[in-house]
Amino acid sequence: MSFLDVNDLRVEFPTSDGVVRAVDGVSFSVDRGETLAIVGESGSGKTVTNLALMGLLSPRASRISGSAIMHQPSGDVELINLPSEQARKIRGKNIAMIFQDPMSSLHPYYSIGDQIIEAHQIHNEVEHEVSKARAIELLEMVGIPEAATRMRAYPHQFSGGMRQRVMIAMALVNSPELLIADEPTTALDVTVQAQILKLLRELQRDLKMAIILITHDLGVVAGAADRVNVMYAGKVVESAPVRELYANPLMPYTHGLLSSVPRMDRSHGTRLSAIAGQPPSLIALPPGCAFAPRCTFSTRVNGGPSLCASTMPPLVEHAPSHFARCHLEGAKL
Ligand SMILES: Nc1ncnc2c1ncn2[C@@H]1O[C@H](COP(=O)(O)OP(=O)(O)O)[C@@H](O)[C@H]1O
Ligand code: SF4
Ligand SMILES: [Mg+2]
Repeated sequence: MSFLDVNDLRVEFPTSDGVVRAVDGVSFSVDRGETLAIVGESGSGKTVTNLALMGLLSPRASRISGSAIMHQPSGDVELINLPSEQARKIRGKNIAMIFQDPMSSLHPYYSIGDQIIEAHQIHNEVEHEVSKARAIELLEMVGIPEAATRMRAYPHQFSGGMRQRVMIAMALVNSPELLIADEPTTALDVTVQAQILKLLRELQRDLKMAIILITHDLGVVAGAADRVNVMYAGKVVESAPVRELYANPLMPYTHGLLSSVPRMDRSHGTRLSAIAGQPPSLIALPPGCAFAPRCTFSTRVNGGPSLCASTMPPLVEHAPSHFARCHLEGAKL
């Protein structure tokens, strides 16, 4: 059974320039033990989707609708527009989140041990010593050597990769059922990126938790995810198991993202083609496919580029578990 079912999630930000439609009817599920990657260029709504799930968007600055059901043995919990007191109880306990920059989440003046202990104490009425033992256990689990001694160190004494390990330890201290990792390796060099993604995969196997892995880089999800949702301008435009998506992308935007991923099997010097053009403004989106102004495939559509520009394609299942939002209707790209 899935851990989380998100249905028709919408997030709008009223601004002085107009209403920003950051998340525009997004639906997906995440199972226990599964990693769902959410991939898309900067500004496509990946972070806002997950902040909405976590109850971290200000109700004064945003309008949120739709549903996100967290299934629990004690019953279903609707996460959308949950009162802040209840959202706080779920955050860090059932669902934890880690970000790109651990320095923004770690306090510079407290030892990392004290911060992990504090994260444990918030949700558990236990003696300090119990939380301390748990903190050491977690630091060992994420591969920090001499954990008991390193507990006394401060964040600045760690490298970027080690800080991200500390963040993961802190996020996992209360055994969450879902970990949301928002660009967790973007700030790290390639080797350390690979180590952290491998660590997440191993932890997931041991702890059976669900993971939502947010990234702008389709290159990192190959070995790190089970399923991929590609987002563009606030919508899911393609969703498929990771191997199927790599082998048979159906939406030109996904094709473009894949073409810009460096691949081991290509000879050195092969040019990487980034997608030309910019994502549209989310304030006044045109009626049709949001990718139309950048799409080089629309001339192949039955109905031509004018159909793409005027009519939003629905998200359609073209092969088992492979959904795409495109008028090309499953053409091989
Ligand atoms: N508080 C806010 N007010 C207005 N617009 C916002 C706010 N937060 C995010 N946005 C806009 O929502 C869109 C999606 O943002 P985000 O989810 O952060 O993108 P991503 O994580 O995919 O890079 C962006 O266009 C961003 O500018
Ligand atoms: S619907 Fe048309 S414009 Fe949009 S991705 Fe498909 S072919 Fe391109
Ligand atoms: Mg983001």
